[in-house]
Amino acid sequence: MNILLTGGSGYIGSHAAVVLAQAGHEVVIYDNLSNSRADVLERLGRILGQAPVFVHGDVRDAALLEQTLRHHRIDAVMHFAGLKAVGESVAQPLAYYDNNVIGSQRLLQAMQQCGVRTLVFSSSATVYGEPQYLPIDEDHPTGATNPYGRTKLHIEQMLADLAVSDASWRIACLRYFNPVGAHESGLIGEDPNGIPNNLMPFIAQVAVGRRPQLSVFGDDYDTKDGTGVRDFIHVMDLVEGHLAALNFLGGNAGWHAFNLGAGQGASVLEMVHAFEHASGRKVPYQIVDRRPGDVASTYSKADKAWQALGWRARRGLDEMCASTWRWQQADVKQKKESL
Ligand code: NAD
Ligand code: WQD
Repeated sequence: MNILLTGGSGYIGSHAAVVLAQAGHEVVIYDNLSNSRADVLERLGRILGQAPVFVHGDVRDAALLEQTLRHHRIDAVMHFAGLKAVGESVAQPLAYYDNNVIGSQRLLQAMQQCGVRTLVFSSSATVYGEPQYLPIDEDHPTGATNPYGRTKLHIEQMLADLAVSDASWRIACLRYFNPVGAHESGLIGEDPNGIPNNLMPFIAQVAVGRRPQLSVFGDDYDTKDGTGVRDFIHVMDLVEGHLAALNFLGGNAGWHAFNLGAGQGASVLEMVHAFEHASGRKVPYQIVDRRPGDVASTYSKADKAWQALGWRARRGLDEMCASTWRWQQADVKQKKESL
């Protein structure tokens, strides 16, 4: 199939490009490069043998979207494009609603105009808000606690309304928990601008010497070691789940939601120690105050994806950390070479 990856030069989209191309699909990356660099295409070319087609565009540009869908005879869309920083969304809610919600609405209108009705959407476990029970299954009540999560929830609901209005739509909302790790080549990975918000890239930057130490946001939670517990999932498992969802949609119309998680939790300190083991480097840290908005523990029940998609996460903490370390070392080298 010809598949359009909006936001496809980003962290998760670029890994999806690898898995989809290696599965025999034609991939077209559509990205405004607001949080990624075009040089990822050259690196994808080194992994795949040839770089995917790239369209430099914004999902809010309806005309360019339609032109792209028609010109490349797109059969399905994977929608990764979006702003994703919770803290930033609190400070700039309108930017998040414009980019994420309006952008998604423009994409859907263009798809409808062009007769493309198969969509895999990058949703987030953030739509569940505060966990009311654990593990979290797809029937857990939704109710986001920040503007970013609300944009994801609004998009999911827009997609559900669309599926009710037209039974020919085939939609999978994939609710990611905590994606980490990198492709085994070390050529692509998570490349956050500025100070990383998320745990894993911060640990990696401490291990490689870019930052002096990690601040652990609280060790007084009611968890195994007092630090936060999260459901970390290797990005390669995550994008293999996207391929499984696409295959599922081939035989199942309508709106579907699936958790993409490992189905178990690991603590912040467990991740620190796993990274030290994988990298052979110390990761100095200090315990500081809790981060506002954090929950003690959250992790998924991933049974529905296994039963419906035949997919489950297979890679453990060691590979998450080892692949991140390979990427972090190579990325530093790449940045030096490009200076
Ligand atoms: P990312 O920032 O690396 O990738 C997003 C890509 O979308 C970037 O390349 C950016 O340039 C592009 N983009 C943003 N707005 C755009 C627009 N208006 N038009 C075109 N391109 C645009 O982020 P990621 O980690 O790869 O996340 C991909 C998707 O998965 C996002 O929608 C995010 O909300 C979702 N998600 C991510 C996580 C996570 O922890 N990384 C967890 C849950 C959900
Ligand atoms: C993980 C744990 C922190 C950084 C976020 C978004 C969510 C999704 C995934 C987009 C927590 C602790 C972190 C640090 C720390 N993104 N931590 N020191 O908050 O579970 O989820 O990313 O959809 O929407 O909310 O991930 O990596 O920020 O934090 O101690 O420097 O690591 O307190 O317990 P989180 P995270």
